[in-house]
Amino acid sequence: MAIQKIAEKEKEIVIEKKIERSKKDEYAAPADRVIMILFGATGDLANRKIFPALNSMNRQGTIPKKFRVIAIGRRDYTNDIFREKVKNSIEYFSTVKSGKNTDSFLKIVDYLKADFTKEEAYAKLKRKIEEEENESNLLYYLATSPDNFGVIAKMLKKYGLAHDKKNKFWRRVIIEKPFGSDIASAKRLNKMLKHGFPESRIFRIDHYLGKELVQNILVLRFTNIIFEQLWNQKYIDNVQITVAEDAGVGRRGGYYDSAGALRDMVQSHLLQLVSLIAMEPPVSLSGRDISSEKVKVFRSLTPLTSKDVETNIVRGQYSAGVVKGRSVKGYREEEGVRRDSDTETFVAMKLTINNMRWAGVPFYLRTGKRMKDRFANIIIQFKELPCVLFCDVEGGMRPNMLTIRIQPEEGMETTFNLKTPGSGMDIQSVRMNFSHEAEFGPNTPEAYEKLIYNTISGDTTLFTSWKEVEQSWIFIDPIFKVWRKRKPRFPNYAAGTMGPREADMFIRADGREWNFN
Ligand code: BG6
Repeated sequence: MAIQKIAEKEKEIVIEKKIERSKKDEYAAPADRVIMILFGATGDLANRKIFPALNSMNRQGTIPKKFRVIAIGRRDYTNDIFREKVKNSIEYFSTVKSGKNTDSFLKIVDYLKADFTKEEAYAKLKRKIEEEENESNLLYYLATSPDNFGVIAKMLKKYGLAHDKKNKFWRRVIIEKPFGSDIASAKRLNKMLKHGFPESRIFRIDHYLGKELVQNILVLRFTNIIFEQLWNQKYIDNVQITVAEDAGVGRRGGYYDSAGALRDMVQSHLLQLVSLIAMEPPVSLSGRDISSEKVKVFRSLTPLTSKDVETNIVRGQYSAGVVKGRSVKGYREEEGVRRDSDTETFVAMKLTINNMRWAGVPFYLRTGKRMKDRFANIIIQFKELPCVLFCDVEGGMRPNMLTIRIQPEEGMETTFNLKTPGSGMDIQSVRMNFSHEAEFGPNTPEAYEKLIYNTISGDTTLFTSWKEVEQSWIFIDPIFKVWRKRKPRFPNYAAGTMGPREADMFIRADGREWNFN
């Protein structure tokens, strides 16, 4: 008996130590001193998203007290020239315009000319970090092509920059999608990164998770009895998720042509939205617990057979057309795109989740470039009540719907049936609308502000774990295998429309319609 007790006690100590160690790993030091080392500082992402977000955080006082940015790029800029360029991008891309605060922000940015594919860059970087501040947390932001992740992780490790010897300060790495182009390449990429950084220090960005209304999904579901109780196959008929863009591929034709909409949007953003809508309540709000529920959703997705790919997925590519009154080129005429490209710029698909909550409820997903408008929303369509009392009345009785408007007009909306005014008994579906801006004011933080802030405070809730990435690729991979075998008839939708006709026909075949067009 005594021996058993000692053994149990020992077991408890081991567990406690493990918990302590994992806490230490995530919160090694309060984040009041941070140096962000930005790889790819002259690139598109840094200009459009990262610098505007940092500037706005500086303005709101949400960056650490001692914060510096070392911006690494290959171009031959001086500090002054580089800062001027950053100022211009803030002016152009930020929702809040530059001003005095921007000048104070620019002072904390230093340019380091270095070719990060070469070893010399890391010796130079090490010296620079030592000059800046000897003791600091280091945040590596890899705003580069994924081809460089491996070499960067390896070199940071080699130069002792991936780990603080005293274990007093943390080293974290932020990476952007695409995380691989299929399951095999994603695994390779992960292995390379793991070389320098353990999973708890890798922050994989899916910027949709930082959007205000996406963060609200779990709050909506798990704090409101009126929704929580109805959130299952007994009451929900179908779920529709649309992320439509009116823009084309812009200057990213080269990347996009090798990716396509399925990799660029569905495997990441849309499946993440599915997981938040479908997951079970997590044990706690920790990143780990939330991720573990999301992984269960991905594992429960009904695997797609070749026949499913043929009947439940529609792919499309845009031809020239008119978007919001402006004539635009077809996809194959875009810069960086092959003239005979078969890359899809549109995908609509149906998936199902094989678990007790969702069995029999189709999830319809749709995303594309050069569509009629730019919007992202999720529509939960509830089942209809059996018709007992108001069966013969005139009017447009409709099933209840809940719409989560992710962008551009952030908000939510529910519809329900009411009698129209007058002595008759006509029924109409009416809307109850919540506007985020009307309630909380304009200028909600940009997704990137929130994501950078969370990385600095070690909160992994809004990032995707390796297991999520792996499972989502396992689901997506079979689609490419089927697609490769059959040449599509592209282009098949005109820019400025809601995609190919087949995308409407496939949902109609189920007796349903897209609820928002
Ligand atoms: C990115 C994709 O992840 O998301 C782009 O690579 C896409 O192709 C973008 O345009 C859409 O993001 P948002 O926030 O503008 O809806």
